[in-house]
Formats: sequence, structure tokens, C-alpha cells
Amino acid sequence: MTRPLSVALAGLGTVGVGVLRLLRDNADLIARHAGRPLVVTAVAARERGRERGVSLAGLRWYEDPVALAADPGIDVVVELIGGAEGPARALVEAALAAAKPVVTANKALIAEHGAALAARAEAAGVTLAFEAAVAGGIPVIKVLREGLAANRIARVSGILNGTCNYILTVMRERGREFAEALHEAQKLGYAEADPAFDIDGIDAAHKLAILAALAFGRPPDLKSVHVEGIRAVSALDIAFARELGYRIKLLGIARRTEGGIEARVHPAMVPESAPIARVEGVYNAVVAEGDFVGTVMLEGRGAGAGPTASAVLADLIDLARGRATPVWGAANGALGAAPSVGIEWHQGAYYLRLMVLDRPGVIADVTAVLRDRGVSLESMLQRGRAPGEVVPVVLVTHETEEARMRAALAEIADLDAVLERPALIRIEPA
Ligand SMILES: NC(=O)c1ccc[n+]([C@@H]2O[C@H](COP(=O)([O-])OP(=O)(O)OC[C@H]3O[C@@H](n4cnc5c(N)ncnc54)[C@H](OP(=O)(O)O)[C@@H]3O)[C@@H](O)[C@H]2O)c1
Repeated sequence: MTRPLSVALAGLGTVGVGVLRLLRDNADLIARHAGRPLVVTAVAARERGRERGVSLAGLRWYEDPVALAADPGIDVVVELIGGAEGPARALVEAALAAAKPVVTANKALIAEHGAALAARAEAAGVTLAFEAAVAGGIPVIKVLREGLAANRIARVSGILNGTCNYILTVMRERGREFAEALHEAQKLGYAEADPAFDIDGIDAAHKLAILAALAFGRPPDLKSVHVEGIRAVSALDIAFARELGYRIKLLGIARRTEGGIEARVHPAMVPESAPIARVEGVYNAVVAEGDFVGTVMLEGRGAGAGPTASAVLADLIDLARGRATPVWGAANGALGAAPSVGIEWHQGAYYLRLMVLDRPGVIADVTAVLRDRGVSLESMLQRGRAPGEVVPVVLVTHETEEARMRAALAEIADLDAVLERPALIRIEPA
């Protein structure tokens, strides 16, 4: 066997410790697949004295992660600190400047600075790998960049955040409201004490920006991703979704349209019969549609020490073997520049739930607004009658433009008999 690959690990949290464990437990198998042993020789974290449940004996310790880049005994830097700026970005830039290949699980960094970092990696002639940055243990980066490389991708979509999927699953299965389900997710360690990053859709947007870049052969464009989280999803909407034959999922969807690339993260209704509707709990899934391959769906654990470490090691094994692919699947100069299109151009069907005073003429007023805006209705649901009381009314539209729907919604929300902010959920074909 050839010389071992000497690995530096920056960050010894959930994922960093997972990588150390996986390397320790499966060392022989990994060495066979890599063609040589993979050995961690140096590590960096904040608190040297912290008990981490793994031995760090014999490893060079760095308080300043950026200093790892200058360690001559290191072949590859693995960045597992997190965050789009600060020490993570400084380390990755320093490593690339020192012509050291980098493996990272950092979706925020790659989504925000992926284009500039790819240029640095290409200039230095080294790899920047990030399999663990999207959907944890699911090898979706490799599938899009290599496995499906001969296809024109029309659409890539997925359940990209396990915390949100867990919350929505608990809401549906147990009829819980959002706040209760979030609390339960926090108790079980599936949601952070500050859950905003997950439940407001930001984490999923980072991942979608990365997937869209690979699927459509252009640098990531995070700013163009329309983002809505799941805070506004109510138990009532989940119950109506069931009645209509749908499940509500937080989806990330990137699609090639006539005007350009549409990318959006939002709660969506998907038919109960669609494979993605059955992906429950903390699981993630990604669906890609290629012109020759058809539809490919991958499902698995999107986070956690084991699955994420598995993805980090896949990148390290490629590196050890000398297998290298351009960061975004093609040389930077050969990447496309397909424009992004805003959500106002989205075409689709919509679920609209209103809380209205049950009195004569209300439905006629609502449907008149929709008619005037050119939005046609597929169906309407109203449960029983309760004259003078507030009742939910659900309207499902045919396919229409988002801009029309929004204009209608603003007018409907202003009607006297409409008492709460209407709930609007996009309906996806599958
Ligand atoms: N957790 C997951 O399931 C998961 C899944 C996919 C991707 N990721 C990504 O993987 C990365 C790491 O996530 P994680 O969950 O492992 O994070 P984590 O548990 O919070 O660990 C972060 C590590 O970074 C170290 N660190 C923070 N600031 C530092 C600094 N200034 N200098 C040196 N070390 C510093 C911390 O040191 P101390 O331990 O000494 O405080 C800690 O060991 C993130 O980019 C995350 O988005 C995580």
C-alpha cells in the first residue's frame, strides 16, 4: 500500500467526532477502498480539555484552525466548524491558497461562497469536496455531478431539512400544532434551542442553492432562492390536506423554466401517492429528473454524526484515490449562466384557506376576486354551516401565475368577512 493520507480535522463537534469514530471503526475497509490508510494527524477545536468520547492521543492540537493549512505534514484539510464566515471560511481559503485539498460539510459556506471558492480551488489545482453539505448521508452530490452528468436536468427537488420533516410528521400523525411539535423535536435533539435556521427554511435554501448549481451547471445563486419556512403551517391545514389527498412537506425545488432557473423553498402539498410524500420523520429525500435517465429518487438520513461522517469519508476516499472532479461539475470557465427567475413567475396550483364569517354572499365575494384576477377554481371545501360564526373555507385553484394569486390574495385578505390572514400553500405535482 502507498503512503497514508494525512488528514487534518478542524471541528470536533457532532460531525468531527463522527469522522474520528468512523475512521477508527472501519479503518481496514476504508483503507481497502482508498488504496491506502487514512490517518488523522492533526485536529483543531476551541476547548482542548473538553471530553469528546474519542481519544485524541498522539494528534497535533491547534487552537487556531487556520494554522492547520500551514502544517507541512498534512495532505488534506477537513473543515467541520460551520458558518459561512469566520474561522471556517478563513481556514478553507488558507488551505486552498496553500494548495491543500479541502473537504467540508459546510452548506452555508458553499452556498454563499461556492463560486469564489471553486475559482480558488481551480487556480490551485486542488479539490474542494462537500458531499456532506447536502442531505447528510445521501450521496446526492456525486449522483448529480457524476452519475447523472450526461443528462439535462429539468428539475431537482427534495426534503432537505430533517427537523422540519420531523415536525410536519408529528403534526400530521398526532394532530399537534406547530409549537408543540417543535417542542418535542427540541426535547429529542432534532431541533436546536434556536431553531430559526431550520424552521425558517434557511438551511434548506443553502442546500437547494448547491443542488441547483450542480443540476443546472452554473455557480450557486443563493440570493435568488425564494424562502418560506414552516412556522405558519397549522394543524387545520394538515387536516384539510389529508382530506384533499395531500401531505404537507417543506420542499426545496429548482426547475428549469422558459425564463430561467426557478428555485424555491416552501411548504408544499404533494399527492399522498407520490413517493416523496412517504418520506417521514428526520429522513431526507432528493428527486432529480433527467432527460435520458427519467426520475431518480434518493432517500436517507440527512443529518447526524454517522450519516454525515459517511459522506465526509466518501470524499476523503476519492481524494486518496486521486479521483477529482471540478467543483461544480465543469471547469469554472465552462459553467453556464442561466438566469434566475423570481417566484412571481411561478406557475402552479394553490391551496387557499380562509377563516370567514359565515354569512350570505361571502363566498361569492371571494370567488369574484379570483375570477377578476383570472384565477380559476378546481374545488372548494366548507365544513357544515354555522351562521354568524367563523368557519374555515378551503379553495383549490387550477394552475395559475403566482403574481395573479398574490394580487387576489391581497384583495381577499381585505374583505370584511375574512378574519385571519389567509393560508396559501403551493400544490406540487409530485
Ligand atoms: N450535525 C449534523 O448533523 C450536520 C449534518 C450535515 C452537515 N453539518 C455541518 O457540519 C459542520 C459541523 O457541524 P456540527 O454539528 O459538527 O457542529 P458542532 O457540533 O457545533 O461542532 C463545531 C466544532 O467546531 C469547533 N469550533 C467552533 N468555533 C471554532 C473556532 N473559532 N476555532 C476552532 N474550532 C471551533 C467547536 O469546538 P469546541 O468543541 O471546542 O467548542 C466544535 O468542535 C457545519 O458546517 C454543519 O452545517 C452538520
